[in-house]
Amino acid sequence: MMKPKDFLYGRKGPWPQPCPDHPYGESPGVVHLPIGEWIDWWANIGFRYMTQWPVFTPIYFINGLLNPGCKEVSDQEFHNYLTNSMMARFITPQLDEIDRDIFKEYIDPTLDYFITDLEAVRTVKTFKGQFVSPTKTLLKKTGTNQFEIICIYVDETKTILTHNDGDAWDLAKYFVLQGGAICATLVVHPLLHFPLDSINAITKTALPKKHILFKLLYAHLRFTLPLENAVLNFKMSLLHPDGWWKTYAPYPGPYDGIRELLVEGYKGIKNNDSYPPYEYPRRPPKVYSNYGVFLDKYYETIYQFVDDVLKEIPKNDKHVKNWANYIHQWIPGFPDGEEIFEGKTFTEVVAYFIWDVTVGHTLDHYNFAEMDVRKVPLRLRQAPPEKGTKIKSRKKLQTANDIMRYKLAMRLFFGPTVVTKFVDIKYDFSSAHLLNRADQFIEELKQTEKELNEEGLDYIPLDKIARTIQF
Ligand SMILES: [Fe+2]
Repeated sequence: MMKPKDFLYGRKGPWPQPCPDHPYGESPGVVHLPIGEWIDWWANIGFRYMTQWPVFTPIYFINGLLNPGCKEVSDQEFHNYLTNSMMARFITPQLDEIDRDIFKEYIDPTLDYFITDLEAVRTVKTFKGQFVSPTKTLLKKTGTNQFEIICIYVDETKTILTHNDGDAWDLAKYFVLQGGAICATLVVHPLLHFPLDSINAITKTALPKKHILFKLLYAHLRFTLPLENAVLNFKMSLLHPDGWWKTYAPYPGPYDGIRELLVEGYKGIKNNDSYPPYEYPRRPPKVYSNYGVFLDKYYETIYQFVDDVLKEIPKNDKHVKNWANYIHQWIPGFPDGEEIFEGKTFTEVVAYFIWDVTVGHTLDHYNFAEMDVRKVPLRLRQAPPEKGTKIKSRKKLQTANDIMRYKLAMRLFFGPTVVTKFVDIKYDFSSAHLLNRADQFIEELKQTEKELNEEGLDYIPLDKIARTIQF
């Protein structure tokens, strides 16, 4: 018979509940955390925010005064941002009826078209003097993961622009990149974070410490729950841009509209096939880019390791059964205690979890932080273009204050500050067999990196990938 002491928190640990701010629209939250997890987070992460914030505020403000506004983005760079960065995650073949109608004069029915649909930013209400517009960018397929950008539809002005439109085209590109930055950080990236919090909490509370599944997952759970709480529930969060002194709050509008973006990501957008409602994925979602090829290759390595480890757990193991049943109640698409033992489902859901919190999550941050804040703005100070619009002044598209906020948010939150590395991971397995398998896993990760580099794919060094969601 298991006793409370056989569990990490004596069976009184954290548990999911409806998210306090958006009980119906967002993933469940894990709100009541053990004090030890808070102390660990404050010491290793929160403390860094508090010390860097005052130091870098004046530095970035001066930097913004010296280098305000936006830099020119060439068509080649724009193409690269859209098709070969974390923004490639938006590319889908799902042109719905509305899209086909908008682009009817630009579509040759014999060819394949894809779309980068950034409609989700429609919820953002902007501060005075700032602008946001939903956009849709039409892409023509020219090869495997190869696209040509055809035109941009700017929803605020109901205008379609092409590279022949001069200034209006240049301005449209900024709106697309702004939309991409907003949707990346607040619509799609959060899906790597918050739905998985339920698994984090339930694993800690409901699995015995000696269980192989506990030992496999526990190595990937540190820092995450306090981090998520700080983002979602602290009034100091970057999502709350009230108060001039919150110099790290970079978004172009107030909390309400910004927070709605998380709802759009989780609930999906009606009649827009680019934004389906969240379901726990059984493997990394398809990305039509080498960016996706890179992510998938790491996934295969993780999958093999997880599959070997889980073979040690007998079918219908009652702890796994309960664990799945608990999670199933909180995460749409997560298998229940019966389904988890069908086919490869168990391996798939666990491999996805580990891939998500390591490679999937870190690469998003790493790649986003490489973007130039003067080419991929979060705030824009000229209205969206119509045909013939001239850019009034590139230097005035972002103020020093805008640049300061964005750079500070990049340093504190968007850029990956790795506390514990994936490649240094130690699993607390008890059998020599599994310990050997874990050692082999590290070698396989290194081999994966080597093979990717040989193919010319080097989006992030393995050494820079974190073990858990910690930023
Ligand atoms: Fe993140």
